[in-house]
Amino acid sequence: MTNKFDSFLTEYLKAYWLRPVSALVRTLEAMELRLYDIPAAGSLELGCGDGVNSYIAKGGTLPLLFDAFRSMPLPTAEQFFSGTLDVYNSFKDDAYSNFTFAPKVLWETALDHKQALLDKAHLLNCHQQLICHSFNAPLPLASESFNFIFSNSLYWATNRELLVKEIFRVLRPGGKCKFVIINKTFADFMTWNVLKAHEFRKYLDMGRHEHYASLLEWSVWANEFTDAGFAVDKIIPEFNRSLVHMQEFHDLREISPLTAQMTRGLSEEALREVKTKWIEYFLYLFGAMYREGYFKTEMDEANYVIFELSRPA
Ligand SMILES: C[S@@+](CC[C@H](N)C(=O)[O-])C[C@H]1O[C@@H](n2cnc3c(N)ncnc32)[C@H](O)[C@@H]1O
Repeated sequence: MTNKFDSFLTEYLKAYWLRPVSALVRTLEAMELRLYDIPAAGSLELGCGDGVNSYIAKGGTLPLLFDAFRSMPLPTAEQFFSGTLDVYNSFKDDAYSNFTFAPKVLWETALDHKQALLDKAHLLNCHQQLICHSFNAPLPLASESFNFIFSNSLYWATNRELLVKEIFRVLRPGGKCKFVIINKTFADFMTWNVLKAHEFRKYLDMGRHEHYASLLEWSVWANEFTDAGFAVDKIIPEFNRSLVHMQEFHDLREISPLTAQMTRGLSEEALREVKTKWIEYFLYLFGAMYREGYFKTEMDEANYVIFELSRPA
């Protein structure tokens, strides 16, 4: 493994290979987040999902055959494209029974409101505690009990003011946060708006635009963080328009239940072979794009930003 980009992309492709652009997006985010530098003691993730993303971002590695698609159902086209079925919110023990992870604490606490995702996160053996709870309600956590808080899910919040206050409350004075926020401009490049004139846009969007309850200008978040008492230490621009286009139109999302189904018919040996090749292909292609600077993003074209905050001591 020659560099951080390649090593992150390899791990993310293991997990999300059937949606390669998702692997790429997470790779670029992990490189900017540098979560691997943060001690596990006193750390909290809000909206951890199945935990795989932040496990890798913290430096965790996966067996080649582990992925996020093993329990994915194969719904009818009508069910799938309606977006009413969350195909990732399913977990079957038997699909993952071959995988065991040696215990290694990477996160102290992580919280999500979907139990099936937390059940999957348990597998990774890297959290001291996993809590099923909605962050739209007061957090079931003691005041001033964390040194570091991470989230890439705050834009789902429907009660932002409460959430920001709660984060401030549970963070120790002197503690730090990193939050990935989706900027309002992101909406302009989503299929939902790009294909506004077409009825079929709903089949490509699959209900996603409705999840973005707090799609705001990053400056609004900056003001709200400051109003709650945080110091904004750094704002990192991310996710230029070209990358959003790739994610919206070239992530193979529309066929992912089908490709997931196809992989289940393969022997372990055949699966190893095709997955190794798949990773090789995307390392080659995305690596070339990365080295040419295609994903570099200036502040005025950022569709995501990373906030680095601290609670004054
Ligand atoms: C974009 S996903 C990110 C998941 C994970 N951090 C990752 O990077 O893969 C958003 C996550 O936030 C969770 N979430 C959404 N609304 C929530 C709420 N009100 N309370 C707790 N978790 C929530 C979802 O279940 C989902 O796992």
